[in-house]
Amino acid sequence: MDHDLAGILVDERAIAKRVRELGAHLAADLERDLARDASGTDDFGKVVMIPVMTGAIVFVADLIRAMPMRLSLKLVAVSSYPGASVQSKGAKLAAEIPGDLAGKHVVVVDDILDSGQTLGLVRELIAAQKPASLRLCVLLRKPDRVRQRAVDVQYVGFEIPDEFVVGYGLDFDGHYRNVPNIATLRTEVVERVRRRSSRA
Ligand code: IMP
Ligand code: MG
Repeated sequence: MDHDLAGILVDERAIAKRVRELGAHLAADLERDLARDASGTDDFGKVVMIPVMTGAIVFVADLIRAMPMRLSLKLVAVSSYPGASVQSKGAKLAAEIPGDLAGKHVVVVDDILDSGQTLGLVRELIAAQKPASLRLCVLLRKPDRVRQRAVDVQYVGFEIPDEFVVGYGLDFDGHYRNVPNIATLRTEVVERVRRRSSRA
């Protein structure tokens, strides 16, 4: 598998350090909100983390373990990169959005902010349920400020160049999510998978 990779953009040590920082930052901000709610110790079910499947799966697993507080997890599934594509085909909900979020402190977690279509859609659907607060958190952000303007993501791990990346949950045609670093793929690999899926 490592032979398929062209280079490493962010290595696993840098990821681990940054994820711990993001977790601490999020936890502190959420604790402040909970204190303002005056719900005292009765904060069961108040904080809901919502990873966007499937790319956020590795990130959220590490992130929640860096947040020493009561929280629960609900999933949202969005598809935007069907098969062997490296460009977004527009975000589509692939399963029902979690309900019962009114009055909750919600954090939507995704692997990467590119065009902003995915998080724009998820944020709109969740905001309609009137949560007490709604935060967006991504590990990576690509430089597409113009299209992303509508989506205010308050927690960003790393700014990366506009390249297609895999690893730490991010995939190409369903593979490479288990690569521990954020890496780029060799062009031959991308071409080979493309040829195979265009024949299928
Ligand atoms: P957006 O809707 O264009 O912001 O794209 C965000 C979604 O596309 C993310 O949830 C990712 O799953 C996927 N995505 C965007 N860029 C990449 C990439 O470089 N590698 C793998 N997946 C990506
Ligand atoms: Mg995704």
